Amino acid sequence: MTAYRHVFAALAVAGGITASGAHAQGTVEVLHWWTSGGEAKAVGELKSAFEGRGGTWIDSPIAGGGGDAAMTALRARVVAGNPPTAVQLKGPGIQEWAREGALNDVDAVAQEENWDGVLPPVLAGIMKYEGKYVAAPVNIHRVDWLWASPSALEKAGITEMPTTWDEFNAAADKLQAAGIIPLAHGGQPWQDATVFEDVVLGVGGAEFYRKALVELDQEALKSDTMVAAFDQLRKLRGYVDPNFSGRDWNLATAMVIRGEAGFQIMGDWAKGEFLAAGLEPGKDFLCAPTPGNGYVLNSDSFTFFKVQGEENIQGQQVLASLIMSPDFQKIFNLAKGSIPARTDVPLDEFDECAKRSHADLVAAIENDTLVPSMAHEMAIPRSIRGEFLDLVTAFFNSDMSSQDAVEQLAAAIERVQ
Ligand code: GAL
Repeated sequence: MTAYRHVFAALAVAGGITASGAHAQGTVEVLHWWTSGGEAKAVGELKSAFEGRGGTWIDSPIAGGGGDAAMTALRARVVAGNPPTAVQLKGPGIQEWAREGALNDVDAVAQEENWDGVLPPVLAGIMKYEGKYVAAPVNIHRVDWLWASPSALEKAGITEMPTTWDEFNAAADKLQAAGIIPLAHGGQPWQDATVFEDVVLGVGGAEFYRKALVELDQEALKSDTMVAAFDQLRKLRGYVDPNFSGRDWNLATAMVIRGEAGFQIMGDWAKGEFLAAGLEPGKDFLCAPTPGNGYVLNSDSFTFFKVQGEENIQGQQVLASLIMSPDFQKIFNLAKGSIPARTDVPLDEFDECAKRSHADLVAAIENDTLVPSMAHEMAIPRSIRGEFLDLVTAFFNSDMSSQDAVEQLAAAIERVQ
């Protein structure tokens, strides 16, 4: 008998569920934003595994990379008194919804299956509210990645992936001279912020990143280091093509896939796109961390909203157990581009990019250079993150000076705190 069945046995007694019920393994309506090629493939694995356990899956995808549209839809559903059973949610957002009393916990499953023993403490902490698990993590995504087209680099005479921002700028200049778009980018606030935070890590290091983007320290926000980060962002602005505005992230990845662009700066969900297009890492596309000595952490998880009916509650418990099963963590992450959230899943079948992610994560934990993603809602509340996104996007789409950007950013953050 698997561990999750014990939990159901207990539930069935408490709730009067019979094993012969039409949907003995529960129902879930799942709200998520995984609609690109690689994302859809990954969430498809979750759906079929859930159905394989006898459950009924109702899919509620809300398109829009980074999840901003999904979060707006979620708020509307909760206000209407009709929350979905399971929702893709992360970081402080989990705590915010839990504080509002909107979440069911899945602690019985977590205890039965010893989640504490198999999750890195940094993730376990994010998944709990008042000591109880209210979320189940599916993966660990790294945000500070640079993706490249080997054929584009070759045409421009670039032989190595850049390891400093100066090297990146030199490579981008060569691509430009060869008539190739240096940087594939989608001009959407969350994508601008993704690039921005990677640059902040690269220019300032992990301690500075933490001060500025997590602790929101005014001195750090106003510092020369932050001015230098905006200077580098201005350089990057010069490397994107004229049609970047509003472009979806996966269409930017497609430009690298086709060799139209040399590089993309994006988290490793981009790898899911390369893989879904049948490309091989190291041969058809290249991966390397963006310049900087750290690791920008993003992790997707599912939370379980307060819903009525044993059928739905049972669905939540089955889904929580399934998400955390080692087999599922392997299959899902092979498609998604991320690495398992569980520390005990062997990585033998994973590619070199995933192995690099894991090795760098372990090193970052050891060296205290692991930082949570601001752009991907792992670091600060949504309302404050919104101020960063607004300012960074305004900077990217105007000729605002770095000095003005820093002053406006520091003032905006002070206002909302
Ligand atoms: C991130 C999410 C990833 C990926 C990306 C683009 O916030 O964590 O799983 O889907 O958005 O949609």
